[in-house]
Amino acid sequence: MTNHEVKNFLEFRKKTFSSVWDDQSDAGEQVEHASGARALVFHPNVASGSQSHNRSAEDRLAEAVSLSAALDLDIIFSQVIPLNKIRPATYLGKGKLDELSAYIHAHDVELVVADCELSPGQQRNLERELKVKVIDRTGLILEIFGERAQTKEGVMQVELAHLSYQKSRLVRSWTHLERQRGGFGFMGGPGESQIESDRRMIDERISKIKKQLASVIKTRELHRSSRRKVPFPIIAMVGYTNAGKSTLFNKLTNASVMAEDLLFATLDPTMRNVDMPNGKKAIFSDTVGFISDLPTHLIAAFRATLEEVTEADIILHIRDISHPETEAQKQDVIDILKSLGVTEDENKPIFEVWNKIDLLSDEQREVIVNTAERLENVALVSAISGEGCDALLQALDKELARGKKIFELEFSHADGADISLYYQYGEVLDRVDTEDSTKIKVRLDQAAIGQLQKHGQILG
Ligand code: GTP
Repeated sequence: MTNHEVKNFLEFRKKTFSSVWDDQSDAGEQVEHASGARALVFHPNVASGSQSHNRSAEDRLAEAVSLSAALDLDIIFSQVIPLNKIRPATYLGKGKLDELSAYIHAHDVELVVADCELSPGQQRNLERELKVKVIDRTGLILEIFGERAQTKEGVMQVELAHLSYQKSRLVRSWTHLERQRGGFGFMGGPGESQIESDRRMIDERISKIKKQLASVIKTRELHRSSRRKVPFPIIAMVGYTNAGKSTLFNKLTNASVMAEDLLFATLDPTMRNVDMPNGKKAIFSDTVGFISDLPTHLIAAFRATLEEVTEADIILHIRDISHPETEAQKQDVIDILKSLGVTEDENKPIFEVWNKIDLLSDEQREVIVNTAERLENVALVSAISGEGCDALLQALDKELARGKKIFELEFSHADGADISLYYQYGEVLDRVDTEDSTKIKVRLDQAAIGQLQKHGQILG
């Protein structure tokens, strides 16, 4: 990575790839954005490698292709490459490299996407052998996140992830280059001071972003605690990317969050009120889509944006039940939630929404309906047609009512202000006004009981 590139990078380009592209060209020709670039995608199927959650190599490749398409790459060829073992230097063996190289040059391929984790050295060597840019899975996902982040915090989190990824690459690839350039390491090669200054620039930028992030997070926490004072339950929607979270969110809230057949269309959490069937409101929060083998650099970014999830009263796990890999996707989502410290318990149930039932054949639908009937906390919906949405809201109402208590209280007519507090915080189920008093029957959750006690109400 040249100093010029680091500067480019530090100028905070959203449409990246410059870091990958411009060291090829001495004339300084620079491709700002890879959109439309002719790309070749491969998934290495390593013989001894463990298949993540039993996904087939073909499915992994299909996912890598959709990820690449999410970046508007023009995928002209994709292939599963069976590998007996990984070559330390170039990842792929000589024969395969020659074959790919011939294809690349015959078809003007501009970019190779390797659906695996490449070491910085492997990436360099592959680029040298194939004479085109190569990015790995982490690089690809980081690019997508860079393009999709919208809020200030989201943008900063992604940049931070990107910087630490680049930093590791910068250091290690330079060390590698130095060795290549003559091996007199003790003399401190020509790049030594360059590396140091590049590293310093990245470090400075990292600590600046961290400071800015800390202040953004503090503001968000203030917002959250003021929202917490409003006794609305929070329902956080999570799910594998493309499961249909935004579409369902729109259906339920009549909002228009971007819902596209684009992976990670939503990167930042969006929150909206929904009128529940019981007449009360709940806050729904749409969050980022998950993906298998999430780059570790991005887990931290998730952790911050997903604080809403850890605070939620109910987690709504949206699944694309029509997807052949739906079980593996479910496991990925649960694993990621676990790594974020979110596990299901009595106070935070995970409610599954089996979405896209409109895409099922009659036979599949029968099996799915039968399975769902045997399970608790599962709702079948089509976010597109709206089928099942009312039943879902009712089921959520029921779930939210669990753990709540019903109180029967009597007030004198002078206590009008007190009565209105119960309307504000609770769910008034019945009210009888007589000449002497008003009797109400009200359902309260623990948060509401706490609030009412703060207002001086005595609730046993
Ligand atoms: P990320 O932003 O990647 O996390 O995706 P998401 O889970 O928010 O998915 P989104 O709502 O953007 O939907 C992805 C694609 O699935 C879009 O093309 C939707 O139109 C489609 N889709 C969502 N729900 C349904 C459904 O119930 N039936 C059908 N047929 N398509 C659906």
